[in-house]
Amino acid sequence: MKHKTNIRRIGVLTSGGDAPGMNAAIRAVVRTAIYEGVEVVGVMRGFSGLLNRQFISMQSHSVSKIISQGGTMLKSSRCPEFREREIRERAVESLREACIDGLVVIGGDGSFRAANLLCNEFGLPVVGIPGTIDNDICGTDTTIGFDTAINTAVSAVDKIRDTADSHNIIFFVEVMGRDSGFIALNTAIATGAEAALIPEVHTDIEKLCSYMERDRRKNKTSGIIIVAEGEDGGGAISVASKVKEILPDYEIRVTTLGHIQRGGSPSCNDRVLASLLGYEAVNALLKGLSGIMVGQVKNEIRFTPFEEACANHNLINKKWHEISRILSL
Ligand code: F6P
Repeated sequence: MKHKTNIRRIGVLTSGGDAPGMNAAIRAVVRTAIYEGVEVVGVMRGFSGLLNRQFISMQSHSVSKIISQGGTMLKSSRCPEFREREIRERAVESLREACIDGLVVIGGDGSFRAANLLCNEFGLPVVGIPGTIDNDICGTDTTIGFDTAINTAVSAVDKIRDTADSHNIIFFVEVMGRDSGFIALNTAIATGAEAALIPEVHTDIEKLCSYMERDRRKNKTSGIIIVAEGEDGGGAISVASKVKEILPDYEIRVTTLGHIQRGGSPSCNDRVLASLLGYEAVNALLKGLSGIMVGQVKNEIRFTPFEEACANHNLINKKWHEISRILSL
């Protein structure tokens, strides 16, 4: 959708689960806008900040030295109230009162659904930047934060492997990914895990036990099973206890990596991706584009309508699941 561009001042916010690289994206948005002679206002705490008018003026120095920092300097929140139209109307009124002509939303699919409603219902120009560790958004090869999160998970699993080997233990390591197995699958391949349980593939406990028994017959004394939080066996604790019932003599432990996957200094890849997408998002707004997410596909910038980015999840390559198992034999 194209608008006439008369944009003098833009807002930027981060919404949903934080992701490493969000700060780098904010920095790129602020610096690009200033370069183009446009004012920037930071909206604190995601869409909630629109309702409470939590606006801060952003200068070039406001984003100094944040490129290497995890989290988000603008803070983030999930804002279920936004499902109500009158709440969204209030948000748009706040923006108009603050003379904010367009918005850059950095977040995941939930944030883009809210952003899309602001465009469609009130004609507000909005451009999105995919920021989530889950990598589950269509229209970009990777989302900001994914690369850092998998590196964090890999280094944690490498450490757990030392203990697994030393004590002959099978570890069930739960990683994030409510609806998608990207973090689990990449971590499993990179750590040589014995199995990966992911939301996209039904968890078959009997089959998992048969793998574990086969591994033992081949004199493997320890193992790592990576479990995505959203797989259909109920998560690592539940899967481990079902396995223990079938294989009572196995020494089993569960580790949940949890929110360490969302924090930390962003990787080089995430910083570069965030910087490029931040730059492109501002330029897209200034060219009159709206209702779209800016992504990167095969090293090219791609604009994807919010509806499309949210409707389809980025799909894992199921062959990787098979390869992961083959390589751990
Ligand atoms: O969307 C990112 C994510 O980290 C998911 O992987 C996870 O399921 C969810 O957020 C956890 O959210 P919260 O921190 O709000 O419990």
